[in-house]
Amino acid sequence: MDTKIIAPSLLAADFANLQRDIEMVNQSEADWFHLDIMDGVFVPNISFGMPVVEAIAKHAKKPLDTHLMIVDPDRYIKTFADLGVHHLTVHYEACSHLHRTLQAIKAEGMKAGVALNPHTSINLLEDTIQDIDIVIVMSVNPGFGGQSFIENTYQKVSDLKNLIERKNSNALIEIDGGVNAGNAKKMIDLGADALVAGSFVFKSEQPAETIKHLKEVIA
Ligand code: DX5
Ligand code: ZN
Repeated sequence: MDTKIIAPSLLAADFANLQRDIEMVNQSEADWFHLDIMDGVFVPNISFGMPVVEAIAKHAKKPLDTHLMIVDPDRYIKTFADLGVHHLTVHYEACSHLHRTLQAIKAEGMKAGVALNPHTSINLLEDTIQDIDIVIVMSVNPGFGGQSFIENTYQKVSDLKNLIERKNSNALIEIDGGVNAGNAKKMIDLGADALVAGSFVFKSEQPAETIKHLKEVIA
């Protein structure tokens, strides 16, 4: 894939001005909205749920890239499809029957993603990579925005790129956590297709300019 993707994470948006921040992303050079769903069980934090996703979907004009940090995600696949989500990513560590979960997501017409925690090896995707549309490589431990990037991610991106090529998979590589203008290019050069950016975008003075800058850095 040629166009490299920036997906601002609304977790870092101002929830009291959510519509304003969604419009900023709509007008910006960003490609996707990244939505972080946390249940307080799989990760030690609770973010937002279905009513908020519904409100976001009403205003967002770009694909909703939804990252479920929840246990037993199968229970909510249809709900998220009905809400209009485009990509649904589950955690490898939260699925006992990952292959079945991926098929269920695709049967609902969504792209199926798998996220790997920092401690989870790329090798574990050897038998599912051909069924996966997106792999999210977590570059922080999931649960919070604003954490610092784990350097071992670079090695994982290149291992994953090798696996994808070896297995002739079409999976996209997405990096999530601690992304900034300093580490973005290196990940793209190693094979990443999409970068999530939360704090780096929304805590900056001019978020739309920051998105533009990230797009230039990775072009
Ligand atoms: C972390 C989330 C990330 C987070 C990224 O659990 O999955 O998507 O919002 O935020 P930053 O870019 O601030 O690390
Ligand atoms: Zn995320």
